[in-house]
Amino acid sequence: MLAGLVLAAGRGKRMRSDLPKVLHPLLGWPLLEYPLRLAAEIGSVPPTVVIGHGRDLIQERFAGRAHWAVQEEQLGTGHAAHVGIEALLSRLSAEGVRSGDLHVLVINGDLPLLRPATLEAMVARHQETNADLTALTCSKADPTGFGRLVRDSSGGQGQGRIVAIVEEPDTDETTRQIREVNVGTYIFRASSFIRFYREIGTENRQGELYLTDVVVAAARGGARVETFEVQDESETAQVNSHREMARAAALLRERIVGDLLDAGVAVDDPASTFVESGARIEPGARLLPFTVIRSGVVIESGCEVGPFSHLRPGTVLKRGVVIGNFVEIKNSTLGEDTKAQHLSYVGDGDVGRRVNLGAGTIFANYDGKVKSRSVVRDGAFIGCGTILVAPVKVGEAAVTGAGAVVLRGRDVADGGAVGGVPARPIRRREDPQSGGGRAES
Ligand code: UD1
Ligand code: MG
Repeated sequence: MLAGLVLAAGRGKRMRSDLPKVLHPLLGWPLLEYPLRLAAEIGSVPPTVVIGHGRDLIQERFAGRAHWAVQEEQLGTGHAAHVGIEALLSRLSAEGVRSGDLHVLVINGDLPLLRPATLEAMVARHQETNADLTALTCSKADPTGFGRLVRDSSGGQGQGRIVAIVEEPDTDETTRQIREVNVGTYIFRASSFIRFYREIGTENRQGELYLTDVVVAAARGGARVETFEVQDESETAQVNSHREMARAAALLRERIVGDLLDAGVAVDDPASTFVESGARIEPGARLLPFTVIRSGVVIESGCEVGPFSHLRPGTVLKRGVVIGNFVEIKNSTLGEDTKAQHLSYVGDGDVGRRVNLGAGTIFANYDGKVKSRSVVRDGAFIGCGTILVAPVKVGEAAVTGAGAVVLRGRDVADGGAVGGVPARPIRRREDPQSGGGRAES
């Protein structure tokens, strides 16, 4: 049996923030979301998370997503893993699982870029070799900030065996040069962990119980210890500081846009296109430069977005929608072939098909106390500079004149036309081309 365990009790001192490190946002999701998804996906039972610093905030944000184990005092990663594995054992032994049969995938809570395929391969290796422990490693061009693996190079029987993992603050001239690092992800047979945990101490610069020392003790004690090497260095990005967070965000952004390109989405300028985790963009859509697309946004095939557009959570663009410069959309659905090409805010809107939202259209969704929705039905034509004060409905094929302010509750009938401030019914012109204030392109 394989259980996922995420270590997330640390304060994250190097972030210099009161917010627990794992709640800091990374491209739309809190940091913890990434390792938690991995642990849930790879494990055969629901994941467990070790929490301590800021635990109430974390439990609230991730309610129902994990079992929790509390590390009252943050005494180090080894201690955190021990708290988590003890919690797992007491829960699973009640179901008849023995500690020799329980394998625990331990992931540091600050590793957001690991790929599921990498961990799947690591698990496969762990099982094939019948290991007591498998540690994920990487040969890095710049190993700064990671624990360095010191291997036996005596040429004797123990050749290649791990003899030490040296943390950055504990490195010296020689160990600092080692490029093979400890990534911060391990699979332990629970019984072996418990056995070798007893052997570790706190003789290090930080005076902590290091998880890495359990690895070393196991190797020294004759347990079957394997290493599995990550090939793609970007997967090992760790987040201890805002500088590292920014670096991880850049790598993740590149990965997300790269995946979109591979899937058939046209991205004119990847470097200026910001797509958060958990946005869904269909093949056949096109993103123009300087566009920000937040988590949870859905963009169907044939849509064009940008340049300079901001799509916030809850935005759904049906097929063929065109969104142009300086348009912000939030919590709104736009139906097929609808256009909002210039300088608009669409908030809490239900917009039908083939609607034209003229330049400067504003959905006034917030009255200072509550947010309300506006509905614009199929084929409506919203003139430039119209303000729709929510809640309000504009009927099918209805027209608003340039500069109209449509007050709340003053719904516009199907086929109707309104204009002025506040907007009142007006006689509709026959020729749509002569309608006032149209800005179409
Ligand atoms: C750790 C590893 C290091 C590795 C690096 C990779 C140790 C001693 N060092 O260092 O070898 O290269 O990760 O990213 O393990 N945590 C707790 N309780 C604690 C302390 C930490 O739950 O008492 C959690 C943190 O919230 C964090 C994770 O464990 O998510 C790792 O701790 P962190 O302080 O980031 O370890 P590093 O110094 O990065
Ligand atoms: Mg770390």
